[in-house]
Amino acid sequence: MKLNLKKIVLGVAVPVVAAGFIFSTSASVGAFADGKALFAANCASCHGADGKGQSPMGKKMNLRDLGSPEVQKLTDAKLSQITAKGAGKMPGYEAKLGADGVKAVVGHMRTFKK
Ligand code: HEC
Repeated sequence: MKLNLKKIVLGVAVPVVAAGFIFSTSASVGAFADGKALFAANCASCHGADGKGQSPMGKKMNLRDLGSPEVQKLTDAKLSQITAKGAGKMPGYEAKLGADGVKAVVGHMRTFKK
């Protein structure tokens, strides 16, 4: 009886922990960093999901279209630096995204290029 209970508890707990681990890593950063999802979660409130900056906040802040030639001519290093360290009123995202997350988000911003 005692042994069976232990088996049942383990049988439930192990898959739950494993599922939680897979979910938490894929939803945040790491090898599976998803630039589009990270951009939507962290940047779209100001820059808009399409990067055009047409959100109410983006309009208020007078943001440039991230797909515009002026922004797209910036190097990956510069875009990474702005994303990681912030610029003007924009906060830095280094701590939140990590190096892989920053790289993924920069990759996603390149898809805005016209
Ligand atoms: C709180 C609003 C806000 C959020 C959230 C935000 N930004 Fe910004 N972003 C700004 C502002 C304001 C600027 C203009 C900064 C300046 O004055 O140079 C800017 C500028 C930029 C630029 C430079 C473009 C240009 O016009 O020179 C890039 C690239 C950028 N943001 C990327 C991101 C990324 C990637 C994220 C998410 C990880 C993000 N931003 C989140 C407000 C925001």
